Amino acid sequence: MLTDWDDPIAGLKQAKQEQPAPPPAVVEHTLADLDATAEAASLAARDQEASVQDATQGATQGGVNGLEEVEFGAGRINVDDKQMINCRADLNQLVPFKYKWAWQKYLDACANHWMPQEINMTADIALWKNPDGLSEDERTVIKRNLGFFASADSLVANNLVLAVYRHITNPECRQYLLRQAFEEALHTHAYQYCVESLGLDEAEVFNMYREIPSIHDKAAWAMRFTRSLGDPTFHTGTPETDQRLLRDLIAFYIVFEGIFFYVGFVQVLSMGRRNKMTGCAEQFQYILRDESMHMNFGIDVINQIKIENPHLWTAAFQQEIVTMLREAVELEVKYACDTMPRGVLGLNANMFEEYLKFIANRRCAQIGLAEQYPGASNPFPWMSELMDLKKEKNFFETRVTEYQTGGTLNWD
Ligand SMILES: [Fe+2]
Ligand SMILES: [Fe+2]
Repeated sequence: MLTDWDDPIAGLKQAKQEQPAPPPAVVEHTLADLDATAEAASLAARDQEASVQDATQGATQGGVNGLEEVEFGAGRINVDDKQMINCRADLNQLVPFKYKWAWQKYLDACANHWMPQEINMTADIALWKNPDGLSEDERTVIKRNLGFFASADSLVANNLVLAVYRHITNPECRQYLLRQAFEEALHTHAYQYCVESLGLDEAEVFNMYREIPSIHDKAAWAMRFTRSLGDPTFHTGTPETDQRLLRDLIAFYIVFEGIFFYVGFVQVLSMGRRNKMTGCAEQFQYILRDESMHMNFGIDVINQIKIENPHLWTAAFQQEIVTMLREAVELEVKYACDTMPRGVLGLNANMFEEYLKFIANRRCAQIGLAEQYPGASNPFPWMSELMDLKKEKNFFETRVTEYQTGGTLNWD
């Protein structure tokens, strides 16, 4: 099977100058603003009412959503009636499958089941509590990554449940989305479990997305793409709105889960490779396996939407996506500098810049865009080995990592 990591390593590329982020705009409210706000709220309420009516009586735009009246004696669903977006066929029956890859990914995800409490954190606790166990820089790596991921996975889960799910009009893909949503809950649980095990200040960690600029900037970047689809008045069904859905799917699956997670993965897994914080590293290894599948599912969905709706993939739209990806690489480079200001564990910010360009090239190729950073290479080839847990069963010498069933049935 071709994985994300199979590409050969190419040459090196110079580091790119960062642009400072613009200061946040100051919003001043006037009475006229308040009137306008009240009017907007009343319009939004009317739209929402209309939207609920659509949902119960059959959508007029953007296909069905699964909440329509059950039509007695309606014709049976043919596989050709099914579509990724704007489908008119009832969504309340799973079969016949149109996208067998989506069902297979659901089965594979279930076979990869794991729970955070199964991972032994004893060595991590001893190391963390030992004043000489870790350097300050190493502690920063752990805390900032827990801080970023703790809110990031909640953000992804909310995006799936409140924004994406409604607009993907295919039952087998929705089945996978439900599994993914549960996995995002497990990931948030894993970070909470690490914070609790190490006795970290939970308020400090869980507030980092509001207090550490580079973590805030990534969360804020993503928020605009989930708010867009989560708007109850938003429906697909026109080229503009279908492009908006496609853009937001790319923002979450390609950028958020496909670029914004990878500095953190490399940093924490690097600690594991040096036999430090092996429990946290193992948690991240399981999460990386899940995330890799989330991203691959997203890529398949995005490419399927492109196949079914080629008119959406215009030159202007592709340019918009390229701009988005370049912006994301810059944000993630800032995150690398913020989590690792002096270089630690044999890693430094320049290596991450190179790595992010390499990853961004892969992401571009995966959705049919030209590579944006020619010649970027992978400074962390060991990451590709880690992606295949079957080969790396004893990597952290903890437990067998293949989790095929729910374990013993215990009614206590
Ligand atoms: Fe996740
Ligand atoms: Fe995910």
